[in-house]
Amino acid sequence: MEQLPSLATILEDAGAALSRGVLLVCDTNTEYIAKKILGSQDRPLCVLESGETRKGWASVEHIITAAKGAGLGRDGLFIGIGGGVVTDMTSFAASVYMRGARLCLISTTLLGMVDAAVGGKTGFDLLGIKNLVGTFFPASHIYMPLDALKTLPPREWKSGMAELIKTAVLDSAICDAVPRVETGETQVSLDKLKALGPFSVTNGVPSTLGELIERAVLVKGRIVEADPKEQGTERALLNLGHTFGHALEAAAGLGNLSHGEAVAWGMVRACELGLVLGITPESRARKITEIIAAYDYETTAPHPSMTDAALFMQALAGDKKRKPVNLPLLFPMHSGRSWFLRI
Ligand code: GLY
Repeated sequence: MEQLPSLATILEDAGAALSRGVLLVCDTNTEYIAKKILGSQDRPLCVLESGETRKGWASVEHIITAAKGAGLGRDGLFIGIGGGVVTDMTSFAASVYMRGARLCLISTTLLGMVDAAVGGKTGFDLLGIKNLVGTFFPASHIYMPLDALKTLPPREWKSGMAELIKTAVLDSAICDAVPRVETGETQVSLDKLKALGPFSVTNGVPSTLGELIERAVLVKGRIVEADPKEQGTERALLNLGHTFGHALEAAAGLGNLSHGEAVAWGMVRACELGLVLGITPESRARKITEIIAAYDYETTAPHPSMTDAALFMQALAGDKKRKPVNLPLLFPMHSGRSWFLRI
């Protein structure tokens, strides 16, 4: 959809017109959007401080306190309005509030639209670890008003584009491997992304982008349907680049690098690892690395923002997705340098 949904539409879609209470949650960046949705209606609005550094328990407690103050019952509706930080925390709060309330999301960033808001993952950061605490709690409705992207800062574009590239990479990988996926319908092609040009979106939103977002959502939706709680191997595909990326985000200091910048760098590292393990064809690793470089992401290791290599290794070793492996492996993180990763 191009435009913001009205509050009446949201309530009707959620079947919440007669429910006990509605709470809108936004941050200081999306407060103006929440106010547009509210119009002249007087409904409780919880405004959080923006940024990854605020993605903690204090903000979640703020949401829950506001919900109680607004008199939300278990049939109350949480409406999260913003990027991944806001929607992850609103979703978490809704998932634990009175053991689960109603939830809908209005995603206002590219990253949120193609990844964070879709698929039911909720959470917040704790002990310096991204999304250490979380639940699976899908929203009943997710709105993606493309108009909201018109005011997205360049850094946010860059962050979202990395997840879009990830989906494109995954989709063609899936299409190669799983014949039942109809490539024509859902493939988010690397070439189309490249044609979009690196962050040329300043005046309005190109129509190609709307199409790509839609396709990325379809691709992710299909993966999530196959493995909603990441118990098998399907949903783990969506973590491409995230083990290295999350570790980099932690090592650079949470909030200093955008999630997408870190994930883009992480995808290049994952390609290197795939090459070392002999599971990624060289041509594929090269193509992925090329497109990431074309979008002006850092591709070399160590990343210039990685001020603390020990913290990086610690974060990598503590990754919540890790599984035991039988053989230790020495993986050169950066050829010509003498530091190695043991996994
Ligand atoms: N962002 C990865 C996932 O939703 O599984």
